[in-house]
Amino acid sequence: MTDPEPIRRIGLENVVVADTELSHIDGEKPELLYRGVDAQELAEKSSYEETAYLLWNGGFPTRDELDSFRGELDDRRSLSHGVAEIVEHAPEDAVPMDVLRSAVSATSVYGDGDGTTRDRSLSVLAKAPTALAAFGRARDGYEAVEPREDLDTAANFLYMLNGEEPDERHAEILDTALLLHADHGLNASTFTGRVIASTESDVVSAVTGAIGALKGPLHGGANQDVMEMLLDIEDSQKDVSSYLAGMLEDGERVPGFGHRVYEAFDPRAEVFKKIAKEVSEKTDGPDWFSMLEEVEAFLREEKRIHEKGISPNVDLYSGTVYYSLGVPVDFFVPMFAIGRSVGWTAQAQEQYDDNRLVRPRAEYVGERGVEYVPIDERE
Ligand SMILES: CC(C)(COP(=O)(O)OP(=O)(O)OC[C@H]1O[C@@H](n2cnc3c(N)ncnc32)[C@H](O)[C@@H]1OP(=O)(O)O)[C@@H](O)C(=O)NCCC(=O)NCCS
Repeated sequence: MTDPEPIRRIGLENVVVADTELSHIDGEKPELLYRGVDAQELAEKSSYEETAYLLWNGGFPTRDELDSFRGELDDRRSLSHGVAEIVEHAPEDAVPMDVLRSAVSATSVYGDGDGTTRDRSLSVLAKAPTALAAFGRARDGYEAVEPREDLDTAANFLYMLNGEEPDERHAEILDTALLLHADHGLNASTFTGRVIASTESDVVSAVTGAIGALKGPLHGGANQDVMEMLLDIEDSQKDVSSYLAGMLEDGERVPGFGHRVYEAFDPRAEVFKKIAKEVSEKTDGPDWFSMLEEVEAFLREEKRIHEKGISPNVDLYSGTVYYSLGVPVDFFVPMFAIGRSVGWTAQAQEQYDDNRLVRPRAEYVGERGVEYVPIDERE
């Protein structure tokens, strides 16, 4: 039997390679659903941990089930000695995503649970924030702070990073930010994780590979770019319009705008916009929110918005939110990774449940019949 004619789709755009019940993106409406529930509604009413439970288990937890899930995370938040050593001895100028990737990978080397996919997934969710906060403190010359059992993931992260009682509203905002990043269809990092899971490799390997994919500037990173752009505008004392005009003249794209799937708007950006306004009103210093409104107005005047099918994406407003909470700019992409770990682990489990090895083909376009030339005869 001869193989059917291969289908060519470079970049795999618009190719369906898996069924999922986890998240659905409708770019036209637009809406983002987690297990059928509107993510905007969850952002308003639920929490990151309840949403993690929903994505993992397919239904909302009862109060007892949620308490028990939180207890399982609490039991795993502390780093084992081996993981703590990696994080605390990383060079202070190490790239935080590299440190996070190494720490997550090491959770299975120094695993202290039963080694099941669920146990390892819980460890990733619980330990990734601890590891990132410990790195943040170590590079500033401070001792790591142990997690507390009375705080959830977001509050614990702020507590472990700053070593002081977190502001309640800041913790709630960070919780919403993590929730909004929990899953997003078969993006590049999630696909990477599913490919790894499809070889029947373990879930920690899948998440480690996914972090590597998210690190690339074409995937994660725009929230950091937005903040760096605003800081640059502030430092250079230029007005927003002339700064952006210069960018467009140089053929650059304005970070925080445009999305492959959403055209009218990114529903996550709507939630972040409200939060960005709130934190901006309560925080001293430059008015980042007004600057972002000016950026949006400029692109509207330039007819980039709508006419070019681009609109604010999740990263436009999330950067200033993290910044106002005191999260270092180079931790913005790791924050995305921490939130997305829910989706990566859930998608790996979904792959295990109905697995088929992912093995596409590449078309060979190189030479043929090239002869081997002994090394001494080569020119
Ligand atoms: C996200 C992104 C990669 C999607 O790209 P895409 O779907 O391939 O969009 P296209 O390349 O088809 O762009 C369509 C048009 O809009 C313009 N455009 C797209 N994003 C733009 C941006 N951020 N700033 C200015 N112009 C933009 C393009 O230049 C193009 O114009 P043209 O038709 O005159 O060439 C792209 O919008 C981008 O690079 N955004 C900035 C980075 C970012 O915020 N990433 C986070 C995504 S969540």
